[in-house]
Amino acid sequence: MLYLDLFSQPFQKSSMKYLFSFFLFLTCLCRASFGEPADSKAYLQMIYENKGGYIIPSEESEAILKEGGHPQYGEIPYDSLAHILDDLNLSSDDVFYVLGCGVGKGVLQAYLTTPIKRSIGIELSQTRWNIAESCRKQMVADGHLVSGRDVGFINQNILTANLSDATVYFINGITFPPLLIQTLMKRLSWLAHEVKVINVLPLPPHQQFQLLKIYQLPMSWAPEGVDVYLYKVIPIAQVDTFNKLDQHKKRRKKQKQPVTE
Ligand SMILES: C[S@@+](CC[C@H](N)C(=O)[O-])C[C@H]1O[C@@H](n2cnc3c(N)ncnc32)[C@H](O)[C@@H]1O
Repeated sequence: MLYLDLFSQPFQKSSMKYLFSFFLFLTCLCRASFGEPADSKAYLQMIYENKGGYIIPSEESEAILKEGGHPQYGEIPYDSLAHILDDLNLSSDDVFYVLGCGVGKGVLQAYLTTPIKRSIGIELSQTRWNIAESCRKQMVADGHLVSGRDVGFINQNILTANLSDATVYFINGITFPPLLIQTLMKRLSWLAHEVKVINVLPLPPHQQFQLLKIYQLPMSWAPEGVDVYLYKVIPIAQVDTFNKLDQHKKRRKKQKQPVTE
């Protein structure tokens, strides 16, 4: 019978093979049409080959220090950032900023592997920014820029650059001076919308910064893993409302308490 023939062993095996190849083809086609290379990790490795951010001219290092930053270099590996990005489950409403982005690998990774609206890196070192920008141009030339979605690098100080439209900030600020971290926190605390901040060190206590999670992830300088901190930053207007509500509740409770002699 035909029915039996269709489900006989040899037919099942070959049809399964064709079906699998067809789905694989469809997946690649979908990814390509959304601008994502079939293997983002291999693609980034390829475009960054022989392009490192570790060595910069000494006058550049001095200028970064003078401007209140720190020139020390280190990277978050692809798989470590992939873990954070998966966990954050970013959407097309999200805007991702890397503050002190080095050669920009994380910025391009977030753009290629998530549906975010914008991925922006800010970097003070001209040498590192040049590499980031050349890799961005390569990515565009390779057809991985998607219309309506933006990726860019800004050669400025994170203390003064405009960073107000982000929803998520990644800071690999292991050697950032305390004043730089404090000023950044102050700037982020003034934002009118809620944002998330990931930093490779705990941030000093602040009433608007709420610790959500601590990841344990390998870094270029610590393959065994380090703690990486995820915070939610609550806008000041919301904190004020919570405080007023809290004070109101306390007052009401006090009024309801029976007077004892
Ligand atoms: C530890 S590296 C991190 C590189 C990248 N974010 C990563 O994780 O792979 C820190 C970077 O911040 C940059 N940087 C330091 N101070 C800065 C500042 N005030 N403004 C902009 N970039 C700064 C440094 O030049 C360096 O490239």
